[in-house]
Amino acid sequence: IGQNIIYRPVLSSTQDMAHELARSGCEAGTLVIADKQTSGRGRLNREWESNHSGGIWMSLVLRPEIAPNNAPQLTLLSAVAVSNAIEKLLAIDVQIKWPNDIFLHNKKLAGILTEMQAEVDKINYLVIGIGINVNQQIEVFGEELQSKVISLKELLDQEIDRKTFIHCILEEFELLYNDYLENGFKPIQKSWVDKAYKIGEEISLKTPKKNFKAIFEGIEHDGSLLVENSNGDIEKIYSAEIDW
Ligand code: BTN
Repeated sequence: IGQNIIYRPVLSSTQDMAHELARSGCEAGTLVIADKQTSGRGRLNREWESNHSGGIWMSLVLRPEIAPNNAPQLTLLSAVAVSNAIEKLLAIDVQIKWPNDIFLHNKKLAGILTEMQAEVDKINYLVIGIGINVNQQIEVFGEELQSKVISLKELLDQEIDRKTFIHCILEEFELLYNDYLENGFKPIQKSWVDKAYKIGEEISLKTPKKNFKAIFEGIEHDGSLLVENSNGDIEKIYSAEIDW
């Protein structure tokens, strides 16, 4: 992981470049890093504000031999890797908000976006995008984001060396990824649940079918969310907008 690193000061999105490289056959573990992104993107087609420097914006190409249905497990694995790196390097405890947000003091510190190129039963490649608010002042974000996001600098009142941080993330990632390929998702699932934001609490969900409140119980083996609805039934949620 990260043997081949491509750095550019500015990109539209590190995801775009990672897709391009993956399509032209780059090796698994290739990492694309940019200082700024002119059209960074997040989950659910949202914009990811990253046209300023100070953050870590990077995308990792993987070619795992797993079923496409299990790809969400790698998003969860990535969130655990980033959390572990933050805990190791900075001794800060963070929480993971399903499926992919890293939260600190109820504010968003990082997000992860997994994009996949797959056939029915085979993954051609995955691009895992990781965005972390590191050395930014909160003022660089648009007004409506300012109360919702946090950066490490803001919290610690000191600059973080992004290179060291990235290396630490890659190390953690590699450990977890090898463990995953060898032993499956169980150990990762456990670490994820240990860090889960609002586990056991009530959340509001908006799915294409309905809006409802439910208790957040945990995650399934395939990375989906398990909630208990008001009838006491357990439901599996693959994708939803959640009001936490
Ligand atoms: C989310 O929280 O919705 C996911 C955000 C993912 C942002 C990262 S930054 C690096 C990579 N490039 C992008 O355009 N997005 C991801």
